[in-house]
Amino acid sequence: MKIIVTGSLGNISKPLAETLVGRGHDVTVISSDPKKQAAIETIGAKPAIGSIADVDFLTDTFKGADAVYAMIPLSFTEPDLGDYLRRMAQNYAKALKAAKTKRTVVMSGWAADLIKSENVENEFDDLDASITIMRPGSFYTNFYQSMDLIKGNGLIGKFLTLRYSGLWALLTGKTGLLMGNYGGEDRIVFVSPKDIADAVAEELLLQPEKTTIRYVGSEEMTCNEAARIIGTAVGKPWLKWILLSDKEMLQGLKMAKVPEKLAKTLVEMQAAMHGGKPLENFHRNNPKMGKVKLADFTKEFAVAYHQK
Ligand SMILES: NC(=O)c1ccc[n+]([C@@H]2O[C@H](COP(=O)([O-])OP(=O)(O)OC[C@H]3O[C@@H](n4cnc5c(N)ncnc54)[C@H](OP(=O)(O)O)[C@@H]3O)[C@@H](O)[C@H]2O)c1
Repeated sequence: MKIIVTGSLGNISKPLAETLVGRGHDVTVISSDPKKQAAIETIGAKPAIGSIADVDFLTDTFKGADAVYAMIPLSFTEPDLGDYLRRMAQNYAKALKAAKTKRTVVMSGWAADLIKSENVENEFDDLDASITIMRPGSFYTNFYQSMDLIKGNGLIGKFLTLRYSGLWALLTGKTGLLMGNYGGEDRIVFVSPKDIADAVAEELLLQPEKTTIRYVGSEEMTCNEAARIIGTAVGKPWLKWILLSDKEMLQGLKMAKVPEKLAKTLVEMQAAMHGGKPLENFHRNNPKMGKVKLADFTKEFAVAYHQK
């Protein structure tokens, strides 16, 4: 089959493209970065260099393909995340229609349908094609973004330790934490991008008549349990995941100079996870869990942690 993979050599798209190539498919990988060309060729795929903001480029790349994996990279520079996601989803829909693509697997998220302004799944409704919407939980790879927090280094790290773990933790050198407006004892479905890639690879070969939705997860646990597993792997078994209020989270994002509307959206997304609805929906759909557990992921995480 001729398959188009968007998302370059990202968390999901790299193992996805590798799996598809390994199974003998003709795979094209879309990247916006000409420097990725050689790396894409190295895994046995064809590079298509261009942006998902360019409908003509997408249409030309999709022409003649049997199936497309369509993902929208998150942008932390777009001031209005909902508007950006909608524009990109509409670009995909226009290109898929023009290219007469018969099968598309769309990347969404397990909380996407709960936040109206960010839900772009319905942009694919009018296509005369077989569509599957993927709704994965929270990626293990998100922990890379918290590396500095976990290290607890520097003035900010020490201040946060003092504020949330107390003077004793600071004096004993037990610095470092995870935080967000979901956390603590909230139960979350975490997922390995490799397990998502396997699920997408499976879906791309199917042709359901009606639009289908597939939830994907690898392991469910509380945030504090996740913190303990991550902490133990990096020599900080005391690591906790502090639950912030929505207001505290918003303040933190503002201090980090995240644009106001985007910050509100991020807080809303995390608040949905804290509220437990995504977990309820996940359980209702009862998908089979993937095989990569958090403890497996921490092996690669620990290497990166000690190299940084
Ligand atoms: N993180 C989570 O917990 C979570 C949970 C649920 C759903 N999701 C969804 O999962 C997706 C993220 O997947 P991922 O982690 O595999 O992605 P990723 O690792 O962030 O990779 C995305 C790649 O897309 C490429 N890209 C960026 N802008 C582009 C553009 N304008 N045109 C073409 N390519 C562009 C970039 O590579 P180049 O520089 O090579 O172009 C980037 O590395 C998002 O849709 C997100 O909403 C995430």
